[in-house]
Amino acid sequence: RNYLHFESISSTNDYAKEIAPSAADGTAIVAEEQTSGRGRMGRYWVSNKGQGIWMSIILKPNLSPNEAVKLTQVAAVAVIETIKEIADIRSGIKWPNDIVINSKKVCGILTEMNGEIDRVNFIVIGIGINVNVQNFPEDLCGKATSLSIETGKILDRKPLTASILNNFEKYYRVFLIDGFSSIRNLCKEYSLTLNKDVKVIINNNECIGRAVDIDDDGNLIVVFKNGEKKTIASGDVSV
Ligand code: BTN
Repeated sequence: RNYLHFESISSTNDYAKEIAPSAADGTAIVAEEQTSGRGRMGRYWVSNKGQGIWMSIILKPNLSPNEAVKLTQVAAVAVIETIKEIADIRSGIKWPNDIVINSKKVCGILTEMNGEIDRVNFIVIGIGINVNVQNFPEDLCGKATSLSIETGKILDRKPLTASILNNFEKYYRVFLIDGFSSIRNLCKEYSLTLNKDVKVIINNNECIGRAVDIDDDGNLIVVFKNGEKKTIASGDVSV
C-alpha cells in the first residue's frame, strides 16, 4: 500500500489534494504533527506532535459525488471498530461524522473532493483522532477527549493507524461491491443522534425535532413538532 509519513506538515488533507492527481488509489498520508490542521466549517484542528493520528486517504473510485460522500460514513465505521478493537471502548457517531466517547469528541473526519457532476476525480478523507492528548485548549474543554483520557493509558499509534487502514479498506470494498446498505445499518447501530431530539438550523432559525432515520444517501430524517418531516443533508445538528 502507498504510505507517506511526515514528521511535520501543514495539513495532510492539503498535501493529499496537492498530490492526488498523480497519486494511486488508496494512498495514505500520515503526519506526526500538523501546523495548520483543518476541521469542518473552516475550523482549526489541534494536531500536536505525537498526540494523535493525523491522516488522509486519497481515493479514486468510479463514483458520482453523491455516492462518494458516503465514504465519510465508511471511515466513521472503520474508526469506531478500531477504537473497540484496540482500546476496548465503545464510541458512537454524532451525525454526520463526529466520533464521540462519553459525549465528548475523540475523532473528526473531513472529506473533500474534486470532480464533475457525474464523476469524482479524487476524494480525500481526512481523519483526526485524539490519541494521547492530555490537555485541550480551554475552548475545547468539556467538548473533546482522547483515547488516553478515556482508557487511562498511553497508546501506541502504529497499531491504531494500521487497524484504521485495514478496517477502512474492508468497508470500502463492502461499499464498492454491495453498496451503502450494510454501511448504513452499521451507522444506524452506532448513531448517537438517532431517536434523539436534535436542533437543526433552517434558514437561520433553530428548530427542534426528532431524528428518526438515516436514509440511503446518509441524510438524517428529522420529524418536527408540527409533524413535518425533513431530510437534513449536512450542517450542524446537535443533540
Ligand atoms: C472535524 O471534525 O471538523 C474534522 C477534523 C478533521 C481533522 C483531520 S486531521 C488529518 C486531516 N488533515 C486536516 O487538516 N484535517 C484532517
